Amino acid sequence: MKIVVFVFYCSLAAVGVVAQNPTEPQCLQSFNGTVGNGTVGSGEQVSSSTIRSINATDANQGVAVDREYFYSIENYSITKHRKANATALLQWYGGAGGPIIHLDGGVVINGTLYAPHSNYPSFPETSSVEEWNVTTMEHIRSYSFGINRGSLTGSIRTYDRVQEGQTQPYGLSINTQLVRFSSGPESPFQYIAQSWIFPEALVSENFSPMSNSGGSFGPDGWLYITGHDASAAYVLQIPSAGSVLIWVATVDLPDIAGQGIAWDRSAGAQGGNGTLYGISRESRQVVEMRVPLQTCRPNTKLPVGVVLGPGEFIKPDSG
Ligand SMILES: *[C@@H]1O[C@H](CO)[C@@H](O)[C@H](O)[C@H]1NC(C)=O
Ligand SMILES: *[C@@H]1O[C@H](CO)[C@@H](O)[C@H](O)[C@H]1NC(C)=O
Ligand SMILES: *[C@@H]1O[C@H](CO)[C@@H](O)[C@H](O)[C@H]1NC(C)=O
Ligand SMILES: *[C@@H]1O[C@H](CO)[C@@H](O)[C@H](O)[C@H]1NC(C)=O
Ligand SMILES: *[C@@H]1O[C@H](CO)[C@@H](O)[C@H](O)[C@H]1NC(C)=O
Ligand SMILES: *[C@@H]1O[C@H](CO)[C@@H](O)[C@H](O)[C@H]1NC(C)=O
Ligand SMILES: *[C@@H]1O[C@H](CO)[C@@H](O)[C@H](O)[C@H]1NC(C)=O
Ligand SMILES: *[C@@H]1O[C@H](CO)[C@@H](O)[C@H](O)[C@H]1NC(C)=O
Repeated sequence: MKIVVFVFYCSLAAVGVVAQNPTEPQCLQSFNGTVGNGTVGSGEQVSSSTIRSINATDANQGVAVDREYFYSIENYSITKHRKANATALLQWYGGAGGPIIHLDGGVVINGTLYAPHSNYPSFPETSSVEEWNVTTMEHIRSYSFGINRGSLTGSIRTYDRVQEGQTQPYGLSINTQLVRFSSGPESPFQYIAQSWIFPEALVSENFSPMSNSGGSFGPDGWLYITGHDASAAYVLQIPSAGSVLIWVATVDLPDIAGQGIAWDRSAGAQGGNGTLYGISRESRQVVEMRVPLQTCRPNTKLPVGVVLGPGEFIKPDSG
C-alpha cells in the first residue's frame, strides 16, 4: 500500500494572534482540565451541527472563507461563492496542463487567498504557496519551496499559515510535521522556525497510511486538524517542551470526511459556537458547521518537570 507523507506547516506567530482576547482565561492545562503526555490522544469528544451543505463543483480539496465569500478549491481550479446565498460568482481555472497541479486548501488574509500547492503525485515532490487576489480571482504570486520538505497540501491562515505536504514519497505517516514559518525580506515563508510531529496514536489510529490533510486555528486559539477520510477534526496544542504535539480532543464532523477545513473568523460566536467550513468530496459540497468553542485559550506554558530539594531527589531509574 502506498504511504503518503505530509508535512503540515504553520506560522506560530498566529498562535499568538489568535489567542487575542486578553479577557479570555488561559486554560490551566488542556481544555478539559487534563493533559496527556503527548503520546496518547484525549478521550474528550466534541459534537458539531451542520448548518447547510452547498453544491460546489470545485469542492474537492478544500475551502477558504472570508467575511462575505467562501472559496471551493480543486486541484487546479477555485470558485468564489457569495456566502449569503451560495451563488457562484467567479472561477479561476488553471487547466490540466498548467503549472498549478494540486492545490489542497487555502486561507484568505487581507484580500489574498494563500493556497498550499504541490505536484502530487509526481516525483520528486515539490511544493509552493500560491496566491490569488480574491477580488479579481487572478493568480498574483507564487513562493516556491522546490523539493525542500516535500509537497505542501494543507491550508494556511492569517499569521498562522497552516499547510501540509509530503516529506518523501510513500514514506511513513509519522514523519508528518507541523511547521512554523517565519518571514524574511524575500518571502513570508522564508524560514522554518520550528516544527513538531503528531502523537503516534493520532497518526496510527486516524491518519495512517496517509497523514493529516487540513488545518485551521480556531477563534478559541486551538489548532484543529483533519485527516484525509475520517469525519472528525483533532484538537491539538503546541507542547511546552519537546517535539510532540498534544492531542486534547476530537470533534465529530459527520457531514465531511477529512480534507481542507477553514474557521470563519468573521462570524461571531453563535451561542458559544464557532463556524467551521469543510468539504465533502463524495457529494462535491461545501459544508458549514457549528462547533462549540472552548472558553479558555491553550496554555502553551504547561509546567515541565519539578524542582526537588535535598531528601526529595529521585533516582532516574526509579520511574
Ligand atoms: C503517557 O504515555 C504513556 C506511554 O508512553 C501512556 O501509557 C500513558 O497513558 C500516558 N499518560 C497520559 C496521561 O497521557
Ligand atoms: C479529559 O480528557 C482525559 C484524557 O482523555 C479523560 O480521561 C477525561 O475523562 C476528560 N475529562 C473530562 C471532564 O471530559
Ligand atoms: C452549538 O453547537 C452544538 C453542537 O453542534 C449544538 O448542539 C447547539 O445547538 C449549538 N448552539 C447554538 C446556539 O447554535
Ligand atoms: C445538489 O446536487 C445534487 C446532486 O447532483 C442534486 O440532486 C441537487 O438537486 C443539487 N441541489 C441544488 C440546490 O442545486
Ligand atoms: C485531483 O488530484 C487527485 C490527486 O492527484 C486525483 O486523484 C484527482 O483525480 C484529481 N481530480 C481532478 C478533478 O483532477
Ligand atoms: C444572491 O445575493 C446577491 C446579493 O444580495 C443578489 O444580487 C443575487 O441576486 C442573489 N442570488 C440569488 C440566486 O438569490
Ligand atoms: C491589506 O492589503 C492592502 C492592499 O490590498 C494594503 O494596503 C494593507 O496595508 C494591507 N493590510 C495589512 C494589515 O496587511
Ligand atoms: C485586488 O485587485 C483589486 C482590483 O485590481 C485591487 O484594487 C486590490 O488592491 C487587489 N488586492 C490585493 C490584495 O492585491
